[in-house]
Amino acid sequence: MSTDVKTIQMQNHGGVWTLTINRPEALNALNSAVLNEMADSLRMIGEMTFEHARAMIITGAGEKAFVAGADIKEMLDLEREQAQAFAEKGQSVLAEISRLKIPVVAAVNGFALGGGFELALACDFIYASENAKFGLPEVTLGLIPGFGGTARLSRAAGQRRAQELTLSGEVFNAQDALNWGIVNKVVPQSELLTETRKKIDVIISRAPYALEFAKEAVEAHWNMPMEDALSREAQRFSQLFEFEDTREGMKAFTEKRKANFQGK
Ligand code: CAA
Repeated sequence: MSTDVKTIQMQNHGGVWTLTINRPEALNALNSAVLNEMADSLRMIGEMTFEHARAMIITGAGEKAFVAGADIKEMLDLEREQAQAFAEKGQSVLAEISRLKIPVVAAVNGFALGGGFELALACDFIYASENAKFGLPEVTLGLIPGFGGTARLSRAAGQRRAQELTLSGEVFNAQDALNWGIVNKVVPQSELLTETRKKIDVIISRAPYALEFAKEAVEAHWNMPMEDALSREAQRFSQLFEFEDTREGMKAFTEKRKANFQGK
């Protein structure tokens, strides 16, 4: 099934949704229309049961860009209040990705700059093509990142690396991104979507509620005081004992067979 809207494309293959940002003429830059359509699509996916949505891939149309940033032409004439609303809109769309109960992977197929890099950083993990280029070039425009980059890059790569990259605005390649722990895997461009899908297929063979709880726990716990994180983890761990799939997973292990998870 596929649902086409103007600036993004949504395709569903067996519950794995691919959201493609589709403005190749502007290197998939994020304008208000894209952000609104992304918000609608993420809301739609968020309302689906596991029967209809198990994972999501976010990528960009064409071979040149994932997303080359927020739309500079749209930002050019913004007044301060409008700029605040634009940043908040971008941030809320990206926050929606981490709130989804399904895993979301960025498949970065070219330039991921500014808001595009921030979008990739908001995903649960990142696969990149060999020709991918990353960066936060906002300072070259007299700006700073506005869609969460100042917070998310330091969490992904450490504060010093984040300062170096944010202050220089320099673009860096996929191998550097891999070395710095920003991306998980680098593959030839022609294999990006198949490699991403392969990993997703491994992931969605696991119990759906366990995936939901795991994603939520990693997201919530990474910057909590250890004691709070551990206590919250024990609560979430024990909650899973109320699900049929948890019994099935452990029973299947003891019976030396493959688990048959039902999302219950
Ligand atoms: N916004 C609007 N249009 C953009 C764009 C952007 N971020 N990036 C590229 N485009 C447009 C170009 O204007 C051009 O359109 P025209 O043909 O109408 O002129 C088209 O896409 C193709 O781009 P180029 O001709 O520039 O392609 P190139 O191969 O020569 O260069 C590039 C590629 C290095 C990525 C260059 O396009 C570039 O530097 N883009 C801007 C990158 C950037 O600064 N991103 C950060 C934006 S600010 C931000 O994101 C703020 C935030 O955090 C919220």
